[in-house]
Amino acid sequence: MNFIRFSDLCANGQVAGQRVFIRADLNVPQDASGQITEDTRIRASIPCIQMALDAGAAVMVTSHLGRPTEGQFQAADSLAPVAKRMGELMQREVPVLANWVAGVDVKPGQLVMLENCRINPGEKKNSEVLARQMAALCDIFVHDAFGTAHRAEASTYGIAQLAKIASAGPLLAAEMDAISKALSAPRRPLVAIVAGSKVSTKLTILQSLAHNVDQLIVGGGIANTFMLAAGLKIGKSLAEPDLLAEASAVIAAMKARGAEVPIPTDVVTAKAFKADAPATVKAAADVEDDDLILDIGPQTAQRLADQLRQAGTIVWNGPVGVFEFSAFEGGTRTIAHAIADSAAFSIAGGGDTLAAIAKYGIEQQIGYISTGGGAFLEVLEGKTLPAFEILAQRAKG
Ligand code: 3PG
Repeated sequence: MNFIRFSDLCANGQVAGQRVFIRADLNVPQDASGQITEDTRIRASIPCIQMALDAGAAVMVTSHLGRPTEGQFQAADSLAPVAKRMGELMQREVPVLANWVAGVDVKPGQLVMLENCRINPGEKKNSEVLARQMAALCDIFVHDAFGTAHRAEASTYGIAQLAKIASAGPLLAAEMDAISKALSAPRRPLVAIVAGSKVSTKLTILQSLAHNVDQLIVGGGIANTFMLAAGLKIGKSLAEPDLLAEASAVIAAMKARGAEVPIPTDVVTAKAFKADAPATVKAAADVEDDDLILDIGPQTAQRLADQLRQAGTIVWNGPVGVFEFSAFEGGTRTIAHAIADSAAFSIAGGGDTLAAIAKYGIEQQIGYISTGGGAFLEVLEGKTLPAFEILAQRAKG
């Protein structure tokens, strides 16, 4: 997909002295006292901001934080803690400006953070009036918010339509490059791991991947539904029996292409969903009526690990078992290490997946870790995200 890269504008000397408006995704988790508990998105947004400052721009950065009510600012909605953290990381003051839509005073070499953009009336519904006001604040708009690239809001879409120049920031471009590398022209075999509690929430992803991947590893509650579809008993495990036909269709579509959905041959079960529930490893065929399947078994994990080590490309979304409980983390741990050891280009995304990557300390061995949650999933579904649609349109002139 063709779009104007902000890095090219900088390299061509088109940014010096210009007012640059960066839409980042600084929507980070906070605890009850407002402390930031995980700052990956702040760190990932800094290269774009630094690039703009180094190029001599007057820099404005904004983001949403949470889902506040428009027009009703509460202290908890403020980007102030984000600005403080960014300031520590960049070793400079990052002032936060409130009520900024009508005008921003910022000079070349300066950086200001514009308060939570979802407070502005009209943001969510992509109001043209609001988008026009924001576009008037800048000479160059930079979309660097991959985590919000699936939303068409005034600060992500309307402004991109109306700003003099609309470009993709380095994070947005890197995410798209990594995803294209994984899905458009992948080194084969291409293996996808899609796990989670419900087939229904990831059905379109499974259907889309079934036409492209060589192996589709399913995990969690999704695997239970696929086990049912393969004629296995799953006891009282979480599953969606009303989606058996859809699961069977995915298995059939893969088979028709000579590809595979590997069904677990052994599992780890418990009688209750508890961290200290006794764990039993058994053959998938031996699951009892009162069993809960909480992980894949060691034989299945080993078989999948062998396949992952031979993969050319791996797309990973979701842990395959209840990895938060030590008795049921074996499958996810084995798979995580196999991905880390594989020579394949790997791309991972989604909150639980990132938590598993952190737990097993394999950040450095993953080819690309996406900052997107919902956006990453929508790309896997095969959708063109609004951010890319509008940036591509603007690149045509
Ligand atoms: C996310 O956390 O996935 C993004 O920041 C998007 O947030 P939203 O779902 O509130 O639009």
